[in-house]
Amino acid sequence: MRIFSGIQPTGSKHLGNYIGAIRQYVEGQDDGDPAIYCIVDLHAITVPWDPAELRSNVHDTTALLLAAGLAPERCLLFRQSDVREHSELTWLLAALTAWGDLNRMHQFKEKSGKQRELVSAGLFFYPVLQAADVLAYRADTVPVGEDQRQHIELMREIARRFNERFGETLVEPEHRIPEIGARIMDLQEPANKMSTTGGTEQGTVLVLDEPEVVTKKIKSAVTDSGSELRRGPDKQGITNLIDVMAVARGVTQEQVESEFDGSGYGDFKGAVAEAVVEFLAPVRQRYQEIRPDEQALEDALGAGAEKARAIAAETLVEVRAAMGIGSAA
Ligand code: TYM
Repeated sequence: MRIFSGIQPTGSKHLGNYIGAIRQYVEGQDDGDPAIYCIVDLHAITVPWDPAELRSNVHDTTALLLAAGLAPERCLLFRQSDVREHSELTWLLAALTAWGDLNRMHQFKEKSGKQRELVSAGLFFYPVLQAADVLAYRADTVPVGEDQRQHIELMREIARRFNERFGETLVEPEHRIPEIGARIMDLQEPANKMSTTGGTEQGTVLVLDEPEVVTKKIKSAVTDSGSELRRGPDKQGITNLIDVMAVARGVTQEQVESEFDGSGYGDFKGAVAEAVVEFLAPVRQRYQEIRPDEQALEDALGAGAEKARAIAAETLVEVRAAMGIGSAA
């Protein structure tokens, strides 16, 4: 099984990214043949960015993934822009992508509505670049959070269209969305997903937040007017905290419900805060050790890019030939 996933180097990653995605990357790194993880700096320039900050954000995210447990000798970790095949394949796949499909993407609608100066064509093309990321490696499995479901559907459609037109060349990938924690919600606005760009600051727990900050954010999470500790559509805040607790403790949601049956929301939030602090502490500690050595981070990314390029280049040779691009081999 070949695994591929991508993560944006934007600012600080939050508990939703950690639970929905990063945790899965680490668990999957030995199952992948290989497991490939990409820090998608080209995706980061689809909204306003600062060049120096972008470079430093790539290092932040690399260090975070290593601190979370990715080991460069067990998986392939690299920076997207180091493998130019991604950009080339994006253009080639654009020829097979329906404009109408791109226009239906929820993420484009959401993000374009928030742009004040420029809605870039890059933002519209974001899902094509994402399809190129995965299809370049002929990956079968893509670990992601729930919000990426539509993007994966689109890359499947693009791969299918390519294969129908030019013969079996690309692999239709499947998403792998975790059973618990696929959509962690904002602690202050539990109807919205946790997000560093669209969410509230108090409602977003960052993986690298100080323990006191994590505790404060979780203790001030919005719950509801009832007192029962159970999941339900009328109890979005508590449902979210139960999910977070289950993942942090490595138990089921039912176990959390029965353990805290009869407890008040205040006590429950205190316990969740403690569990999350404990869950994130080792990552935060390792991050502080790893982040300062930028040369080591660059070396790890460079070695990953070299291996990634070898795989992507092979796919590109076949794709170009099938499409009639370039001279005949
Ligand atoms: P990014 O960096 O925005 O998100 C990284 C991962 O975190 C998941 N995620 C969440 N999971 C649970 N609850 C949340 N509140 C939450 N918020 C985010 C996302 O689903 C994602 O898996 N488009 C991708 C980047 C990408 C990619 C790829 C992914 C580029 N190319 C190829 C897979 C394959 C993204 O959203 O990154």
